[in-house]
Amino acid sequence: MDKLIIEGGVPLRGRIRVSGSKNAALPILMACLLAETPVRLANVPRLRDIRTTLKLLNILGCESEFEENVVRAQVVLLKPEAPYDLVKTMRASVLCLGPLLALLGEARVALPGGCAIGARPVDLHLKALERMGAAFELTSGYILGHCKKLKGAHITFDFPTVGGTENLLMAASLAEGETVLENAAREPEVADLANFLNACGAKISGQGTSVIHIQGVSSLHGCEYRVMPDRIEAGTFLVAAPITGGELEILDCPFQELDALVYKLREMGVWVQEDGERVIVRRDGELTGVDVTTQPHPGFPTDMQAQIMALMCVAKGAGSIQEKIFENRFMHVLELVRLGANIKLKDRTAVVRGVPKLVGAPVMASDLRASASLVLAGLAAEGTTEVQRIYHLDRGYENIEAKLSAVGARIRRAPE
Ligand code: EPZ
Repeated sequence: MDKLIIEGGVPLRGRIRVSGSKNAALPILMACLLAETPVRLANVPRLRDIRTTLKLLNILGCESEFEENVVRAQVVLLKPEAPYDLVKTMRASVLCLGPLLALLGEARVALPGGCAIGARPVDLHLKALERMGAAFELTSGYILGHCKKLKGAHITFDFPTVGGTENLLMAASLAEGETVLENAAREPEVADLANFLNACGAKISGQGTSVIHIQGVSSLHGCEYRVMPDRIEAGTFLVAAPITGGELEILDCPFQELDALVYKLREMGVWVQEDGERVIVRRDGELTGVDVTTQPHPGFPTDMQAQIMALMCVAKGAGSIQEKIFENRFMHVLELVRLGANIKLKDRTAVVRGVPKLVGAPVMASDLRASASLVLAGLAAEGTTEVQRIYHLDRGYENIEAKLSAVGARIRRAPE
């Protein structure tokens, strides 16, 4: 296992480019199972979760190659089983359920376990697929699903689940008749998947709103597609500039998808502006604490909660963070406290009181965005911070230490 060693206190300055979106690329790669002819995907980030997904596609009978940031995928002979030893390393594997049922009428997918941030059930996926005619059994850790031809249905999600909406978009694309998804997830990555499916010949409309219509078609062909930029990586860089007192120019930033975050950063006293192709961000004087509640898109993204908490640790005054999406997404709090932060937890609310400075220390990453938060805090802290177990970070950030070093950070990877 590797760790990152950070000498903090250096204001970051320079140009940093955002990679392709992990959370758009994962469902889009699963959707390649539906295409009868080859797919060429550009702007795919080089991440652990992407490599895991390509391994799973291979097991399911879809061959692929991954060069630079381009994936070429081609279905050879589909098989219905997603094994536990792969699914346990990446929950998003459950996104093969929709395609397998749509194509084969059967699926054996290991039930994805929970993870550090919560139980992560998939009951909403299964309930919605049952409305389309699928039947499920849960035996010895596997979801066994089967159906005749999936039929279009009118489905209302109890919660706007991102993965559930994505599974249903893929299943409904090849179902008989029309499917309507109400209370659907509005995340930009869901819209990116719908746009990819339409490029393959699907008939989807309403993506990005909470009501999506899908007219089933008989088959889908391959296409060439470019994955959207990663708005959470971009958001992480929007915090990296003010937390170190520097200024960054961010390229390929999906600025229009970050309204809720930008609104809160400006409320804290961060200066951020779009300037043509770039987004410029820096601290604008004293930072002050704010109150944040995580919500489904277009509300404040839960995937930016840990990162804005790091910024609030060095702001003036107090602020609060309510985590309404996941039941256990405060694993970074005690690690930030090790760096000198003043944070009190009560149920699913954290009260953060800014401190004049953070002081470097060894800390441990527990999940992907918690590790990003600890890196940000380490960049601001005085002295040396060691972030351990950064395999969590490698799941979602491409070349993070190279990108940060290029704008002045003193950060290096070392074996733990
Ligand atoms: C996606 O997870 C993202 N992952 C997560 O990003 C992100 O935090 C989350 O959406 C919310 O935006 C990918 O896209 C690969 P959900 P997903 O289904 O699809 C409950 C990151 O850091 N729920 O919207 O699993 C669930 O327990 C990751 O990049 C059910 O109860 O999110 C959670 O509390 C972390 N039953 C809430 O809904 C279900 O059937 C949100 O889950 C499904 C979900």
